[in-house]
Amino acid sequence: MRYLILSDIHANLTALDTVLDTVKGRWDKVVCLGDVVGYGPDPNEVVDRIREIDATTIRGNHDKAGSGLANADDFNPVARNVALWTRDHLRPENREWLEKLPTGPITVDTFMMVHGAFRDEDEYVFAPAQALDSLLDARAQVTFFGHTHLQGGFTLFDNKVGVLHFKPPAGTNFSTLTTDVETTYLLNPGSIGQPRDGDTRSAFAIADLSNNTVEFWRVPYDIEDVQKRMATAGLPEPLILRLSFGR
Ligand SMILES: [Fe+2]
Repeated sequence: MRYLILSDIHANLTALDTVLDTVKGRWDKVVCLGDVVGYGPDPNEVVDRIREIDATTIRGNHDKAGSGLANADDFNPVARNVALWTRDHLRPENREWLEKLPTGPITVDTFMMVHGAFRDEDEYVFAPAQALDSLLDARAQVTFFGHTHLQGGFTLFDNKVGVLHFKPPAGTNFSTLTTDVETTYLLNPGSIGQPRDGDTRSAFAIADLSNNTVEFWRVPYDIEDVQKRMATAGLPEPLILRLSFGR
């Protein structure tokens, strides 16, 4: 079974549709690690698309804030501004769908998925010391996580934590990880709608764990197209600009 692993789409329909077009026919089922909305101009269109492709989805912090399930008091002013804008613009049925998203971690087939960390869905896992807790808590060999918008991951083998980086060079689309049976993996597919690792291309993964492979993809999309819609919607300038830098 090949799983398309999406995360942190952040209401960017241009990026999501470009990714879905690019990998058409290469996956059987799709999962989403949260942050379907927030930051971007297309909350309804992206929720519609995720529901249409029947993605098994867990909630992210922006889904909680955008739906009104949580207040956005701990967000920075720019993120809070868009959370409130998102809340105003979501159709009632989409707001309800976001409110009902399950909290990670959950198990899908042979792997697990969580938005942030195992013990706290809102915790950012940037460093090996932070990853260790989740690697020890994992009840599957492979767990996918999001939230940081950084494609990569961590391994636990022989009581040592390792760091994985996946960055296909420009001109190529993906690099492949071959998993080892004695290693535990915490893998981040990166962000579809707001990459933050200096590479502006959408990031995601395709996992074929019965064949021990995970592909880490980068796909360019029409950034100006989504930036124009953000400007028309009156979304904050810093959010529009950062897409041009992948930061
Ligand atoms: Fe996010």
